[in-house]
Amino acid sequence: MKTDELRVAVRRIMDERVPPEARLQAVCDLLRGEMPDYHWVGYYLVDRASPGELVLGPFAGEPTEHTRISFGQGICGQAASTLEVFVVDDVEKESNYLSCSPHVRSEFVAPVMYRGTLVGELDLDSHTIAAFGEADSALLKWVAETTAEAVAEAASIEV
Ligand code: SME
Repeated sequence: MKTDELRVAVRRIMDERVPPEARLQAVCDLLRGEMPDYHWVGYYLVDRASPGELVLGPFAGEPTEHTRISFGQGICGQAASTLEVFVVDDVEKESNYLSCSPHVRSEFVAPVMYRGTLVGELDLDSHTIAAFGEADSALLKWVAETTAEAVAEAASIEV
């Protein structure tokens, strides 16, 4: 599937009348299924009960032990603190990194903002070094924006 077809498919999923978790799960499955270098695709949600922490939401790929991540911790926690997209071409060169699998070589994290508030993150791992280039970044930032309302709903954050 080409990038523009993927965007159409993501929009269709967002229009489905199913709970937000099911829509986000479908987006994870779609991205992982269509993009050969996207080996793990998932959402972390800001924990409403503990706002300095992320809790694992819908994901596609191997289960991870990192089901809760404090802000500042690992790539995900750093992206939550800075509110910046964090692209890591080679995870072995990162000291503040939480390993989910020895096969992972590169990672992409986009904060998910809804109405100016951080509600979660879109996180991708790849077994390929430097898997996330400019085209991936543009696509994934768009996915983060397009799914932001569903992420806010899944996290039960009202903004
Ligand atoms: N590698 C991440 C942890 C989450 S897993 O990639 C699913 C990190 O350093 O924050």
